[in-house]
Amino acid sequence: MKNSFYVGVVFIAAGLIGLAAVFVVYSAGTGSLVFRPAAESLGAEIFLYGTAGGRAVPRRGSIGMMGGSRLGCADCHGTDGRGGRVNMMMMMGSFEAPDIRWSTLTSTEMEHTEGETPHPPFDRDSFARALRDGVDPDGGKLESPMPRWGVNDAQVDALIEYLQGL
Ligand code: HEC
Repeated sequence: MKNSFYVGVVFIAAGLIGLAAVFVVYSAGTGSLVFRPAAESLGAEIFLYGTAGGRAVPRRGSIGMMGGSRLGCADCHGTDGRGGRVNMMMMMGSFEAPDIRWSTLTSTEMEHTEGETPHPPFDRDSFARALRDGVDPDGGKLESPMPRWGVNDAQVDALIEYLQGL
């Protein structure tokens, strides 16, 4: 009787430790149970994971929802920021994402978006407008696969710094 009591205690303790471990992994990560390596800067975190300080950056838009709130810029524009063709899950088609390295966005050659009317180069303010309001420097609308991002000024600056390094 006494033995089975101790066995029970051991099992409950093991269960609690297991739960605690899951919770730590969950909260240390970006809210998903899949472990992700920590990003080396705020810009990297937003770019790669779409989170800032572990919290999803608010976004609106069609596909933004498909990948849940965990899509980062890299999921569409590539981890190298050079863009390319993005294939969506479940054969829902594909689309072209532009090169968003800072050197490309600010280049005066103006061939920023494949197949689209060229627009003037980006600067910090028009980049922030592109993210928040979905417009290019001419005021032209960015198509729906590009989400609208609720980024604050510090986050915009961190992203620019990261894109400058690509
Ligand atoms: C779900 C896919 C997706 C995600 C996620 C995404 N983008 Fe985009 N983005 C696009 C597409 C597609 C376009 C092209 C829209 C168009 O041409 O109308 C675009 C356009 C842009 C442009 C305009 C480029 C140009 O040359 O006009 C910028 C800047 C940009 N994205 C930055 C970002 C940043 C920064 C993030 C992360 C915070 C991000 N995007 C996340 C799909 C995405």
